[in-house]
Amino acid sequence: MEPQEIADRIRVALSRRKPTFGPRSRPLAEVLDAAELDEATLRSSGLVRIDDDDEVHLLDTSDLPGAWKRRMQDGFDSALVRQLDSASYQAFVQAVYGSEYRFSPLDDGQVATMIGQMELRPGARFLDLGCAVGTLTARAARATGARGTGIDFAPSAIRRARADHPDLAFVVGDLDDLGALAFEPFDAAVAFDTLYFPLDLHDTLRQVATLLVPGGRLVASFTHRVAEGPVSDDPADSRLAQALDEGGWTWSAVDATEAGGAFWRRSAEVLVEMEERFRDQGDEDLWANIHAETSVTVEAYDADRVRRWLYAATPS
Ligand SMILES: C[S@@+](CC[C@H](N)C(=O)[O-])C[C@H]1O[C@@H](n2cnc3c(N)ncnc32)[C@H](O)[C@@H]1O
Repeated sequence: MEPQEIADRIRVALSRRKPTFGPRSRPLAEVLDAAELDEATLRSSGLVRIDDDDEVHLLDTSDLPGAWKRRMQDGFDSALVRQLDSASYQAFVQAVYGSEYRFSPLDDGQVATMIGQMELRPGARFLDLGCAVGTLTARAARATGARGTGIDFAPSAIRRARADHPDLAFVVGDLDDLGALAFEPFDAAVAFDTLYFPLDLHDTLRQVATLLVPGGRLVASFTHRVAEGPVSDDPADSRLAQALDEGGWTWSAVDATEAGGAFWRRSAEVLVEMEERFRDQGDEDLWANIHAETSVTVEAYDADRVRRWLYAATPS
């Protein structure tokens, strides 16, 4: 393996721990597993220090955001369209959501609440931040008569969104650099489960504020998950609410925890029923990925470590 590839794997393994960006240290077993490296390669990389408790510390963090982001971008770029085109995944989507493809734990009730929170009139303009293949952009536009623009950093998803929804606008863009896109101001922006990903959430919120007309609103679904329960039931305690407060936004939140838990439990049941179908169609890796995320998330809901909030916010 090339030294650059080894370095990249180590950096990503030490940077990626959802939902927050960080930390710079992680237990040895987890790093070896996430980086898919053997211990000798890790030790001889020169990039880490392993302490007496077998905790791995990254020595050089300078390229951390870049490596993490490249990996995320590649991952999304290959996953989104592949799932859209997989017959077994589409059957899963129909069974769990009962409606069109999406790449987020949003059942139709949550989607409808968020579209309502955007308070769009026919002809108004909205921006969908992290729109993937544009299915929810199209849903919001249909429901309100508003004109939608979607941005996402996954180019193949944007190509597909343009082909499937030629009446809407789709742009390859980065949540970390919205200023580069020179948009006219929007009446609302929506983030269907995407505000976990900016490298600097404060900065992204500041950029979103500049893209809104006076009185325009940002609507965002956000899961607040903690390592040890019970999680706070105050919507002000999530990372997103704290960033909104620090940026001087005014906000309200709807509790979607019950719907969120029900969604993931339904996913878990459907996945068990559909394992063979995924395998028969050569999609066992897709099944394994979704199953891993679903198991961890159901466990977190069962242990009262998760709250799910739908925020509507206005900049000061
Ligand atoms: C969990 S998916 C949600 C997709 C879509 N909103 C939905 O609900 O189906 C997150 C999306 O955010 C996009 N994304 C992640 N980081 C991004 C970034 N820095 N800039 C632009 N898009 C990003 C991904 O490509 C992906 O489409």
